[in-house]
Amino acid sequence: MVSAIGRQEWLDRPSYRLEHLLSFGYNSLGRARNTVTNALNGVWLGHPVHPPLASLTSGALGTTVALDALSLLPGQPKSEVVDASRFAARSLGVGILASIGSAITGATDWQHTHEEDRRVGLVHGVVNLAATALYAQSWWDRHKGRHGRGIALTALGYAITVGGSYLGGALVFESGIGIDQSGQRLRTTEWTPVLPASSLNGKPVRVEVDGVGLVVCQTKPGEVSAFGEFCPHLAAPMADGWVDRGRLVCPWHGSWFATDSGQVVRGPAAAPLPYYEARVIDGVVEVRGDEHPTPGRGTAIGNVGNGAGK
Ligand code: FES
Repeated sequence: MVSAIGRQEWLDRPSYRLEHLLSFGYNSLGRARNTVTNALNGVWLGHPVHPPLASLTSGALGTTVALDALSLLPGQPKSEVVDASRFAARSLGVGILASIGSAITGATDWQHTHEEDRRVGLVHGVVNLAATALYAQSWWDRHKGRHGRGIALTALGYAITVGGSYLGGALVFESGIGIDQSGQRLRTTEWTPVLPASSLNGKPVRVEVDGVGLVVCQTKPGEVSAFGEFCPHLAAPMADGWVDRGRLVCPWHGSWFATDSGQVVRGPAAAPLPYYEARVIDGVVEVRGDEHPTPGRGTAIGNVGNGAGK
């Protein structure tokens, strides 16, 4: 089913229209744009915000379905039925709010996807929006005392949510959307010469140490930094990026990484770029990895190597 959706090229046209609409909306925020998109992409969290919000959504709605089922069990005291219905309405409210947050963060992540992933992501979003509309109608029906109809709409919405979640899971586990894609880390703790400093010309240069690809670049006169070779967002080759005012810029979607730490300055990347110690000794750039890297994060080491004598 996922690959069949991925082949539907007619979805590209509405996808690009929606993407342009999103870009227009974010760009119209002016200077607040980066703050807002960083918050939605999960730069502050170190990974995307959408998955935990989606979990909250399905957890709250699953609770609603369970409480609805309890309230329908025969032979129960009326007070327990009333309690179950009341708490079901509350968890439904939480589910609707989480679902709206999930849609906004998901759309922000989705706008940078491509081809099959973009088509599957679009269907995933539309399906979940349809389910959210049913939840909203269910909440209104319950509010108006139409409990039977409210319960039926939530159950139908939840079945749709489960289908939509399957598509979301395929995007994460098959395509790696939302996963840190920066790849292998350098573990070597020995200083390793990689290239003459004179061969750095302001652009990141790819080198390999112990089978691990890195990019080395001159960040200021006499200072060099080394990073993982792939962008954590969707694995763009950082050797095609460039250095701009203390930031290493991803060539695909324009994430900014601080050249003195690899931390994300602007998304859509949420995880930091692996960062390694680098120095110049006798005109040769040397790098080394981190002895105790933080699992799943860039191996940020506080000081950037900056010249002979270190
Ligand atoms: S691959 Fe998307 S920002 Fe780098």
